[in-house]
Amino acid sequence: MLTSSEQINVCSFGGGPGNDLFGSMLAFELAKNNTGVIANVNYNLFEWIDTWRPIVEHVSTLSGKNINYQHADLQKPLRDGENDCISDLLKSRVGESFLFLFSFVVLESLVSRQDGKIRHSENLLFDLLDESFCNPGIDAKFLILDAGKGMCGSLRATEDFVQERNFRTKC
Ligand SMILES: C[S@@+](CC[C@H](N)C(=O)[O-])C[C@H]1O[C@@H](n2cnc3c(N)ncnc32)[C@H](O)[C@@H]1O
Repeated sequence: MLTSSEQINVCSFGGGPGNDLFGSMLAFELAKNNTGVIANVNYNLFEWIDTWRPIVEHVSTLSGKNINYQHADLQKPLRDGENDCISDLLKSRVGESFLFLFSFVVLESLVSRQDGKIRHSENLLFDLLDESFCNPGIDAKFLILDAGKGMCGSLRATEDFVQERNFRTKC
């Protein structure tokens, strides 16, 4: 349930060219039309390539909303220097809400299958799940979308991946 005073940080990981971030903008517009609540949203897109930047800048211009395009690598842990901008954002926005979007990137980037078993290494998604479960100062929701790839399995592989992490969470 949204409130007008709430500050929400939308973070799209592997977000180029901006599809899921744009989808979230539409969702907040719909919420405004249906409930009258105007969400105070800060939009962030994290990518390991810069190729999408001009398209994202157009999305920003056309939508009239600022989008912070920053470098990050999902295959590295949160503490890795390549993900400093994410640690900085979490620290600077303590007490605010987060919506973490992982759309069509988990199976592509974080999961593989070997002998029918799901394989993965330490990564940003795991660390963000740990942070949100263990740190009461972080109010985070995760939206993970994946249609499934022949190489990795299916949407169920993504669900298994996240479920397993929920049970193994360190706090
Ligand atoms: C299939 S596209 C999905 C884009 C968008 N999220 C969507 O739903 O339309 C996957 C994106 O993830 C990015 N990506 C893949 N591996 C990544 C990684 N390790 N770190 C950051 N971005 C990554 C790719 O550059 C690509 O833009």
